Amino acid sequence: METKRPIVVKIGGSTLGSHDTTLEDVVTLQKRGLPLVVVHGGGNRVTEWLKRQGTPTSFVGGLRVTDERSLEMVAAVLGGLVNADLVAAVNSLGGRAIGMTGVDGNLIEGKIENAGLGYVGRIVKVNTKALEAILAAGFIPFIAPPCARSAEETANVPYLNVNGDEIAGELAAATSAQSLIFLTDVEGIRDRQGSLLHKLTAGEVKSLLASGVIAGGMIPKAEAALTALNTTPLVQIANGRLPHALIGAVAGEMAGTIISTIQVPSSMIPNWSVAHSV
Ligand SMILES: Nc1ncnc2c1ncn2[C@@H]1O[C@H](COP(=O)(O)OP(=O)(O)OP(=O)(O)O)[C@@H](O)[C@H]1O
Ligand SMILES: [Mg+2]
Repeated sequence: METKRPIVVKIGGSTLGSHDTTLEDVVTLQKRGLPLVVVHGGGNRVTEWLKRQGTPTSFVGGLRVTDERSLEMVAAVLGGLVNADLVAAVNSLGGRAIGMTGVDGNLIEGKIENAGLGYVGRIVKVNTKALEAILAAGFIPFIAPPCARSAEETANVPYLNVNGDEIAGELAAATSAQSLIFLTDVEGIRDRQGSLLHKLTAGEVKSLLASGVIAGGMIPKAEAALTALNTTPLVQIANGRLPHALIGAVAGEMAGTIISTIQVPSSMIPNWSVAHSV
């Protein structure tokens, strides 16, 4: 990618509440000149809307089992409601954001890998053209599932559900992001005893996945971290409910989990000085 290497941020739907400072932080970082790419979830909102329709929902390995009705709900609620809410909030805070889904500009192309999950796409290709244009114009892309169907996908639906963590990991890898930050509803990755793990290597993440210590919604985050580490030196997982968690993460002052293949002293964490200069 020709533009400056972005910071990719995944905002978990579970963290977004009235007292959350994440969107303020996004605007502050944009004003400091950092190119941001934001991917958001909002799975709890999808579940809530499905419930209103009397449709139960289930998860396997952190991924939503997606029938046709759930797929429509993902597009309507994440790509519509949640995306518009977030973009409107950022713009009213003085930021410059543009909402899009993985379908726009064929940003994310997916293919069904496990038919048992229904219309869940696993990402097979990323097309960053539209993203680059948005970043070059000085906007923050706010990206929601669903994703486009790859040319080889034969399912009879217009698009596929794809987990937000997976989108974030693939976008970080495709843009050689300077870092990938997951804001979620827990402090970070915990070990079997429940203690927070501050620093992990890719190898350690793989064994925590294999042993089942990383479970549920943390599985796609851990897998996305491994994807991102191909080009992105640093992945952070932090509690997005803590005030200014995002600014803290960018500044290297966060209390969550850092996953990196290299030893990262604070002075080497990208944009440390930029984050502290305002
Ligand atoms: N080893 C672990 N350490 C920490 N959390 C874990 C671990 N294993 C499983 N989890 C679960 O992962 C959850 C976070 O993923 P979850 O999908 O619920 O949130 P999110 O991705 O931030 O939000 P959304 O899916 O709406 O985007 C935690 O709330 C926790 O229950
Ligand atoms: Mg999740």
